[in-house]
Amino acid sequence: MTDALRIDNHLDADYFERTLRSDVLNGLTAEFKELPPKWFYDDLGSELFDEITRLEEYYPTEAERSILRARAADVARLSEADTLVELGSGTADKTRVLLDAMTATGQLRRFVPFDVSEGILRSSSEQLLDEYPGLQIHGVVGDFEEHLDQIPTGGRRVTALLGGTVGNFGPRERKGLLTDIARGMQSGDMFLLGTDLVKEEGRLVAAYDDARGITAAFNKNVLRVLNRRLGGDFDLDGFEHVARFDHDDEWMDLRLRSLRDQDVHLTELDLDLHFAAGEEMRTEISAKFRRSGVEAELAAVGLDLIEWWTDERGDYALSLSRVR
Ligand code: AVJ
Repeated sequence: MTDALRIDNHLDADYFERTLRSDVLNGLTAEFKELPPKWFYDDLGSELFDEITRLEEYYPTEAERSILRARAADVARLSEADTLVELGSGTADKTRVLLDAMTATGQLRRFVPFDVSEGILRSSSEQLLDEYPGLQIHGVVGDFEEHLDQIPTGGRRVTALLGGTVGNFGPRERKGLLTDIARGMQSGDMFLLGTDLVKEEGRLVAAYDDARGITAAFNKNVLRVLNRRLGGDFDLDGFEHVARFDHDDEWMDLRLRSLRDQDVHLTELDLDLHFAAGEEMRTEISAKFRRSGVEAELAAVGLDLIEWWTDERGDYALSLSRVR
């Protein structure tokens, strides 16, 4: 049973420490303060995100799930893949829909989850081994921006990037990410991408500024992470959650706005920060897409769009593309 599971961890012991420090140092000493969204996800942050996915206002999770349910069999048939690679697999929740479809046709041999968290990757893999007897799992623990070339080759593969994760990247970084993903693929391999779509502003804003304040708590939690890990003294009540749709860039722009003039100290970085009253720091962007843009971005890295599937309301899209 044990050789059915292999996990390669490419992150050195101080990866999180090192990248957190440099992200905070770079991001918070700049003229326009900014933090990368990856620091939201400590245990509490992951729980809050889970709660977000169940909110009335937050439509993407259900929309994606409904498309997957409707189209997983098409993905299996069109890709003819024996290997499913999932980038940012997390708890591999929606993965089961794809694994089931590939099992039904008898084509599934291997699952390759790629995630930054070894703990989550290991526990979800062990669970999946129980559920899919005969499945080989080769997990890769790494950073999207550094370790995509460590994904094992061989077989006919379909690579999935779901959940709208790609929206966390701006256009330039997205180009780099898609280039790296495509580079690791072989002719005929398929790419399955989940993208949230541009829609009426009111619904977008509501999805990121819900009535119960869960997203606000999720956003502010990043300050708690900095307090704990870097010896900070952020007062969470001194900031408010801001969620706007940026019409020029077509992304949701999430920020924390300082409610007063205040100083913050981060002991571990020996860093003093000043926030003016009303000053905002960006904590996340969540890009919203159109078919034409997705198709062009894929084509630019050698991926031809084969299918474009949306949910009934047209809120969200799954695209299937193939390496030229
Ligand atoms: C996990 C990046 C897809 O952008 O919708 C949800 C994160 N942030 N609510 C998104 C998020 C606030 C989410 N992604």
